[in-house]
Amino acid sequence: MCGIVGYIGHREAYPIVIKGLKRLEYRGYDSAGIMLFDKEGDLKISKTKGKVADLEEKSKEIISAATIGMGHTRWATHGVPNDVNSHPHLSNSGNLAIIHNGIIENYEPLKKELIKRGYTFTSDTDTEVLVNLIEDVKKKDNLKLGKAVQVALNQVVGAYAICVFDREKPDEIVVARLGSPLAIGVGKDEFFIASDASPFIEYTSNAIYLEDEEMAVVRLHKPLKIRKIKDDSLVDPYIQELKMNLEQIEKGGYEHFMLKEIYEQPNVIKDTYRGRLHANEGIIQMAGVEDNLEKFLNADRILIVACGTSWHAGLVAEYVFEEFTRIPVEVEYASEFRYRNPIISSKDVVVAISQSGETADTLAAIKLAKEKGAFVFGVCNVVGSSISRETHAGAYTHAGPEIGVASTKAFTTQITVLTMIALRLSKAKGTLSNSDYFRYLQELEIIPEKVQEALMTNEHAKEIAEKFKNSTNCLYLGRGYNFPVALEGALKLKEISYIHAEGYPAAEMKHGPIALIDEQMPVIVIAPKQGHYDKVVSNIQEIKSRSGKIIAIVTKGDTQVKELSDHIIEIPETSDALSPLITTIPLQLLSYHIAVLRGCNVDQPRNLAKSVTVE
Ligand code: F6R
Repeated sequence: MCGIVGYIGHREAYPIVIKGLKRLEYRGYDSAGIMLFDKEGDLKISKTKGKVADLEEKSKEIISAATIGMGHTRWATHGVPNDVNSHPHLSNSGNLAIIHNGIIENYEPLKKELIKRGYTFTSDTDTEVLVNLIEDVKKKDNLKLGKAVQVALNQVVGAYAICVFDREKPDEIVVARLGSPLAIGVGKDEFFIASDASPFIEYTSNAIYLEDEEMAVVRLHKPLKIRKIKDDSLVDPYIQELKMNLEQIEKGGYEHFMLKEIYEQPNVIKDTYRGRLHANEGIIQMAGVEDNLEKFLNADRILIVACGTSWHAGLVAEYVFEEFTRIPVEVEYASEFRYRNPIISSKDVVVAISQSGETADTLAAIKLAKEKGAFVFGVCNVVGSSISRETHAGAYTHAGPEIGVASTKAFTTQITVLTMIALRLSKAKGTLSNSDYFRYLQELEIIPEKVQEALMTNEHAKEIAEKFKNSTNCLYLGRGYNFPVALEGALKLKEISYIHAEGYPAAEMKHGPIALIDEQMPVIVIAPKQGHYDKVVSNIQEIKSRSGKIIAIVTKGDTQVKELSDHIIEIPETSDALSPLITTIPLQLLSYHIAVLRGCNVDQPRNLAKSVTVE
């Protein structure tokens, strides 16, 4: 959470930093700030509560031809979102400026110590403590900035990606990372610093991703030196060539990133299986799985750890893995798993799912599983992310950048990867008949066409959204493979429209939630023809007899559920196990339209951030 951008070079820094902040705004957007240092030696800061657009408005008076700048878009942890708590923060002397993504957990004792030494604080943030700690260390021992940052960071507990600027040494920016991502774009006589590569993609495709506990002094006209924060040892910089292009991170004519990403699903699912799925030959090939096949086949169980939507993809995978491979599966919230002294052994395979690859709880769960001897396999979208590096092996989802805070294409591509893994293991174990195995491969290959067809429900979803946009509560029901889809549908609605929504296994209704049903309650039932259709029909009848308003997701041509429902959305038929890839599409569209009709900020819902790098 929080996005940071820095620039040092020969171009005007202001437009680079502002544009970069807009691209990083998905990471946090409750306040923003910018610092510019011009040739006359003026250090100017502008910061404000609100979005980057508000900052742009406010910072007009500080715009200059400065070629050094840093900017920050915030997701508050310590201190409410307001102008004062926004970054950059200055040290007491006014010489050092810092932007920070992360949390300094021991900021209170450090602050007390600094107060005793005469320091004063204007904000409630942990970041202002850090910049003054650096200043104190620097002054006490007359250190250069880089060394002072290093000494200070060795006193800090927590997580950070930081950029520090010293007006007395204006040809450099010192950067460091622990637990929060930080990329350095390397251009000709210029450097870009950012939480991810999107702010500098049009300037350079050469990037260095700092590893945890590394720092660098980014200095003009000097080769970049990366050091370990703890022992000062030098690290060889690994320059990665970026494959991302500008088009991928722009809206491409759609009103919102979320809608664009919903519509990208047919293509990105193809990208996910391209080169891995060869349906006619009956082959599934994924390097990370092939290289570790024995580990999967000998596993006593597969333990899936993830958060939010990725956790829902994990729940779908539980059904798929157990059905296809007969390997026992457990799915855990990473945030619970990490703190409950779980029983794990070297016979367990842990699968960590994460779009961003930066989720702090998932990362911590991985570290714990590794400590206990498990083999850890990652399913990530962001290439080079912390989770993809921390896991023993993995498979990328190849969904392309997901900018909308509500996850859509990440979910369906995660399910695609996990289904392919399950199919590969079923082949090795012989747990599926040959004909079923071939049938699933062929069905998976044509899923993108069916997703495309499901997207044609858009207009109808919009009409239904119009009818239910003022609801205060909503219930989502599904069974089997579509129970996790019900959870995901409810999450999508609540996070972007702020309507309270719950997902339930349909049969659980009678154990409590049915008491909620009255004529005001929209109930979205996922009822495709395959699976537990008859049982779901009975559940729908129970709702109908209590006057609930039924919106059903049904297979094209369905008549039985249609008769019972107030509204239906028809989707193409596929097998039960693959149906989540289709049933989820109208639910995404429904949430999207309800949120838009309610005037909500779909891409940046309140209180949320795309990449949750704090626990
Ligand atoms: C919901 C959503 C979140 C994320 C969760 C995990 O739409 O986006 O629930 O799924 O924060 O994030 P990743 O997958 O990046 O680990």
